[in-house]
Amino acid sequence: MKNSVIINLKHYEISSGKSCERFLSSFIGMDIPENIRVVFALNPIDLRIARNFPELEFYSQHVDSTGYGAFTAKISMESLMDLGISGSIINHSENRLNKNVISGTLDKAARMDFPVVVCSENLAEAGEYSRLKPEFVAYEPPELIGGDISVTSSKPDIIRDVVSLCSVNGVSVLVGAGIKNSDDFRKSLELGAHGVLLASGIVLSKDPLRSLNSLIEKL
Ligand code: G3P
Repeated sequence: MKNSVIINLKHYEISSGKSCERFLSSFIGMDIPENIRVVFALNPIDLRIARNFPELEFYSQHVDSTGYGAFTAKISMESLMDLGISGSIINHSENRLNKNVISGTLDKAARMDFPVVVCSENLAEAGEYSRLKPEFVAYEPPELIGGDISVTSSKPDIIRDVVSLCSVNGVSVLVGAGIKNSDDFRKSLELGAHGVLLASGIVLSKDPLRSLNSLIEKL
């Protein structure tokens, strides 16, 4: 199994809307080690752009359980697949869902064979959502999101516990919040995770391509 680096483009001005294509262009042709997979999680307004970048892999920042039909402002798995989006995050701290919605979305994802990463803010949520068999549980303590203290240095014991709880259900873990460099990435793997979910460390850096390269190069 490859280790995943999911870069959440959020709705930063520099990585979404009119700037999204320019932002993504800088990653064309980059060298990605064979044991690593890099995924860009697009804001809903930018999902159609995926078609212009066939060599990159994309997730959506959100997906609903509804299909095509009379569903205003919903994002269906069917439409994402039609647009070349290979999976989705749900329940990010900045877009929380209730448990029934998460469960309904994961039921449909299983039927559609559509990979979904469920974010969790703590150990209890991680355990609960791993029972629903997402592609990954992503553990992101909200108080560290967007900051300079990484989850790997601040919460190593909880990461170990999340990994162990999720492994009972055969689910792999990503960690996120404050991840910036290869030390954070390496530590996340040492703690048993299978990758990272990050945003500001890449998107808001002066040189996003260089920051991504330095995150993955020493692994
Ligand atoms: O989805 C990733 C995100 O919430 C973590 O954000 O800026 O701490 O890497 P950041």
